Amino acid sequence: MIDIHTHILPQLDDGAKDIEDSINLLREAEKQGIETVFATPHVITGLYEPTSKKIKQGLQALQDRINQENINIILVMGAEIGIVSEISADEIRGYTINGEYVLLELPFVSYPLNCDEVIFKFQSQGFVPIIAHPERAFSIINRPDKLKEWRKRGILFQINSKSIIGRYGKTVRNLAIKMLKDGLVDFVASDTHNNKWGFDFDITRPILEKYVGKPKTDELLGHNARRLLLSEKSNV
Ligand SMILES: [Fe+2]
Repeated sequence: MIDIHTHILPQLDDGAKDIEDSINLLREAEKQGIETVFATPHVITGLYEPTSKKIKQGLQALQDRINQENINIILVMGAEIGIVSEISADEIRGYTINGEYVLLELPFVSYPLNCDEVIFKFQSQGFVPIIAHPERAFSIINRPDKLKEWRKRGILFQINSKSIIGRYGKTVRNLAIKMLKDGLVDFVASDTHNNKWGFDFDITRPILEKYVGKPKTDELLGHNARRLLLSEKSNV
């Protein structure tokens, strides 16, 4: 399985506190059968501003340590970019998955006027937006039709494993389940920040299988992510 959204790199955002924290999390990931983990620290102007170089260095240091510890996991570079961040196309390229896919975080509460504009701008620049956990954003909970509209324009969606098992409450879970039933989910990821809020793929898998069947579950927890890694612009 592949987890496309984690805050596994230490000391770049509100995720792992130190490398030991990261290692403990990754041991748990390995136990759950996850073999590839995308490191997607927050990039939010004025709050968390790791450069792509810093993310790359952190990723390499953690990968070296993983290898020393004989943990069978490959890390992949990425970032979770706040949609209100002021970042140029050139800067974004450094934060993409494979030079093509960009994981975007919506504001949780209000829906910024220029939200669509920002998303479509990324598309016009040749990037494929993946919206991170839209089921958690009140701005979307209040207008879920937005998802279908975006879908028609080729936007991809990632929901959190914790949303499906109800860790953020009923409203979020209901939207996550509705998205699954409506075929509006491309990836299920953990968005893990620490051991308290780990991966939960083991608890999520049977629930997913119940709602969408095993083949689709395999897509959501791995196959679709594998396609990101094998995309044409791949430089891995
Ligand atoms: Fe996140």
